[in-house]
Amino acid sequence: MTEAAVRTVALTKRYGSLTAVDGLDLEIPKGSVFGLIGPNGAGKSTTFAILASIVSPTAGRAEVAGFDPSSDARSVRRHLGYMPDVLGVYDNLRVDEYLEFFAAAHELRRSSWTGLVDGLLELVGLEVKREAMVESLSRGMKQRLALARALVHDPDVLVLDEPASGLDPRARVELRTLLGELRAMGKTVVISSHILTEMEEMCSHVAIMEAGRLLASGEPAEIGDRLRGGHQVVVRLAGGEVLRYTVTGEEAQRDLLHRLIVDEGLPVVEFREEGAGLEQLFMDVTEGTLQ
Ligand SMILES: Nc1ncnc2c1ncn2[C@@H]1O[C@H](COP(=O)(O)OP(=O)(O)OP(=O)(O)O)[C@@H](O)[C@H]1O
Ligand SMILES: [Mg+2]
Repeated sequence: MTEAAVRTVALTKRYGSLTAVDGLDLEIPKGSVFGLIGPNGAGKSTTFAILASIVSPTAGRAEVAGFDPSSDARSVRRHLGYMPDVLGVYDNLRVDEYLEFFAAAHELRRSSWTGLVDGLLELVGLEVKREAMVESLSRGMKQRLALARALVHDPDVLVLDEPASGLDPRARVELRTLLGELRAMGKTVVISSHILTEMEEMCSHVAIMEAGRLLASGEPAEIGDRLRGGHQVVVRLAGGEVLRYTVTGEEAQRDLLHRLIVDEGLPVVEFREEGAGLEQLFMDVTEGTLQ
């Protein structure tokens, strides 16, 4: 079994009578890109804030790289890079000073700061803003800076709360590439986003939550099959006739194609999965009622 980089067990957070996170059990494999999706108010940011030891749970527990964020915040912060959904206010700091501030907070050697800041700014494409005030940055630039900040101490686990929101198309593509590179380095990336087409492309695993509860989790294609009892395959024949099949799993899909062409000798001109992606799955399993 693969080791979990992040685990939550019956994790619960209540705000008065509202249960923001409700008995959440998550197992996030080491080295995965794990997408947490869910409607507004589902409890994604609250879960992330608990992992980052910013918010303490009401019940249950969490574990990041083997450490408990509510009792050992220090160890968790050494291993975890957190990008919150909103960048804190740090007026009167320049971009480079902002990153140096976090380098200092992580007790990195002062002599390493300049090289580190150079590298991070290059990584997120903010070199030209090195001496600009943080407050003067555009929204997307602040997102880029927040990502650089999450990477300051080269953490094993990244928790990114809607990192793509506000980014222009090029920056979003670059973000995807960057996340792929981080994964190739063996890091675990936990990410939330409402851009489901991107999540589908990027994530090795996804979990869908609503009203604090986990509705489904697993590999994107696999949970779709499980919840719907299979996916639709559309087959078009040379004469224009269209056939539809419900198929569970990749292997069954290959078997179907083989049967149609080899065994039955049909003139198949098109064979495709019906586009019921993550977006459709999301619509199927969530209700969209705000609590
Ligand atoms: N500090 C707080 N005090 C009271 N209620 C809160 C607090 N923080 C979050 N909540 C509530 O908890 C629920 C979950 O919020 P959360 O921010 O975790 O959702 P989310 O899944 O991140 O939503 P979104 O997609 O809109 O970012 C919401 O109903 C929210 O109003
Ligand atoms: Mg949120």
